[in-house]
Amino acid sequence: RIKNMGQKGATFWFTGLSASGKSTIAVAVEQVLLSRGHHVYRLDGDNIRTGLNKNLGFSAEDRTENIRRIGEVSRLFAEAGVLSIASFISPYTEDRDAVRALHAENNVPFFECYIDVSLEVAEERDPKGLYKKARAGEIKGFTGIDDPYEEPTTPELHIKTHVDDLETCVAKVVEFIDAQNLFG
Ligand code: ADX
Repeated sequence: RIKNMGQKGATFWFTGLSASGKSTIAVAVEQVLLSRGHHVYRLDGDNIRTGLNKNLGFSAEDRTENIRRIGEVSRLFAEAGVLSIASFISPYTEDRDAVRALHAENNVPFFECYIDVSLEVAEERDPKGLYKKARAGEIKGFTGIDDPYEEPTTPELHIKTHVDDLETCVAKVVEFIDAQNLFG
């Protein structure tokens, strides 16, 4: 399979607050890899929470189930030889560790990429106006406001989007991916 695909599959798991830049960086990284002819696929809220996980909300139980299913899907893509970039808040350490363990059990490379942002900057960005609504009490249980985000303590990659500009963040992720010996 590795020979046919010209690469080894892997999961790059982006975790971070809403508005941290996970999706923006994932889209840009995907573009770079696609332009080089690699097989890459992005999993995010747009193609998961509207379909496979449309029966799930944002309670702790539902977030756990959201991440569990996505972890399984990402593992399957990676096993099929694709570079899978999953970008979800995934606020709980235990849930991320379960996805890591699933990959380890199946001998599939897994890299936790912490897309870090200060809450202050995330709130300033607020592209969907959700932080504002959460502050106003119109959304309950919003991550970072009145719901927890457990920061990764030992991620394989730590990107700080309140420090580096987008181009630099993307370059750092691509450089990291290139360093994993996944390409023939
Ligand atoms: S996760 O916690 O289960 O990993 P996921 O990444 O799928 O979350 O979805 C996060 C997105 O859902 C946010 O970027 C935001 O647009 C939206 N959202 C809606 N309600 C909430 C909430 N209570 N907390 C966080 N994000 C929410």
